[in-house]
Amino acid sequence: MKPAEKITDKLIGAHSLETAEYAALIRARDEVRDTLRGAAEKERRRFYGNTVFTRGLIEISSFCKNDCLYCGIRRSNANAERYRLTEEQILECADNGYELGFRTFVLQGGEDAYFTDERLIPLIGELKRRRPDCAVTLSLGERSYESYKRLREAGADRYLLRHETADEEHYKKLHPDEMSFQNRMRCLKNLKALGYQVGCGFMVGSPFQTPETLAKDLKLIEEFKPEMCGIGPFIPHHETPFAKHPAGTLELTCFLLSVIRIIHPPVLLPATTALGTIDPLGRERGIKCGANVVMPNLSPVSVRKKYALYDNKLCTGEEAAECRRCLERRIRSIGYETVTARGDFKNTNNN
Ligand code: 5AD
Ligand code: FES
Repeated sequence: MKPAEKITDKLIGAHSLETAEYAALIRARDEVRDTLRGAAEKERRRFYGNTVFTRGLIEISSFCKNDCLYCGIRRSNANAERYRLTEEQILECADNGYELGFRTFVLQGGEDAYFTDERLIPLIGELKRRRPDCAVTLSLGERSYESYKRLREAGADRYLLRHETADEEHYKKLHPDEMSFQNRMRCLKNLKALGYQVGCGFMVGSPFQTPETLAKDLKLIEEFKPEMCGIGPFIPHHETPFAKHPAGTLELTCFLLSVIRIIHPPVLLPATTALGTIDPLGRERGIKCGANVVMPNLSPVSVRKKYALYDNKLCTGEEAAECRRCLERRIRSIGYETVTARGDFKNTNNN
C-alpha cells in the first residue's frame, strides 16, 4: 500500500491523524481524493441522509473596527461603502425569510461598535418571540465573555467565528498587530463553555498558507470538535493588501470538505458563497464532497454589494426568494433535498 493510502485508511477508521500525517495527506491528495470523497459522502448520509439545511444570512453591518489584511470591509478600506441595517429592516428580512422556509437566521456583520449588547439583546429577543421555532446564529466577531453570555441569555443559539488559521505565525501575517490567535481561541472556548453551537473555520488558499498550516487547522477541528465549520476559498479583494494574491481553488476546498466530514462526521458544513463564486457549480461540488448546509443571502438587495468581503461575490443582485428557488433547484439537480428545519447539530454518539 502506498503511504497516502495508508494514511487515508487510518483517517477513515480512526477519524484522527497526527498533524504531520494531515500535511502528507494534503500533499498527496491527487492519489486519494476519490476514496476520501466516497467515505465523506457515506458519513454525511449516515447523519443527515440526503438533506441539506439552509440558513438565511442577514448582513447587518459593513462597519468594522478591524483591519484583517484579506477582507474588503477592513477599516483601512476608505472606498468601502458602509451601511448598517435598522432593527426594523433586520426583522423584515427575517419575516421574509420565514415565509420562504428558513428556520435559522444568521446575523453577520463587521465588528461594529454600534451593535452593543443593549441593542442586540432586544433584537434577538424580538426575533425569538416572533419565531420561537427558529434558531438565531450570530457572526459578529470577537466580544467579551460577558457579552457572549448576555447574548446567549437573550436567546442566541449558535455563534460563527472562524479561527482563520491555527498557525500562530500565519495568523500574524493575515491580521494587524492588535489581533491575536490566542484571543480568537479564547473567544471560541468561551462560546463553547456558554453552550452555543460553535462554528470555527478558515479560508482555503489564503496568502502564506501551506500544507503544514492547513494540517494544524485540521488538527484543531479534530480536537475542538466544533458543531459547525465554515471553509471557503480565499478570494482577493482589489482594495486590500492581498489584491494580487491568487484565489484558493475549488479542488483543494472540496478535498478539505471531505477530510473535515471524516474527521468529525456530524459537523454542520456549509458549501459557501465563496465556493460558488470561484466556480459556477462550486456549491454543488461542495455538497457532493461532504457539505450539508447552504447559506443564501436575505439582506436587502440595496445593501448587498456593500458587504463585499471579496470581489465578484455571488448573488448580490438577486432577491432572497430568487436565491432560495435557485438553490433548491441546484440541490435537487444533484440528488439532494433542502428541508424546512432548524437543522441543529446532532451527535448520536455513534461516530
Ligand atoms: N475571501 C474569502 N473569504 C473571506 N473572508 C473574509 N475576507 C475574505 C476573502 N477575501 C471570510 C473570513 C471571515 C468570513 C466572514 O469571511 O474567513 O471569517
Ligand atoms: Fe442566489 Fe442562485 S443562489 S441566484
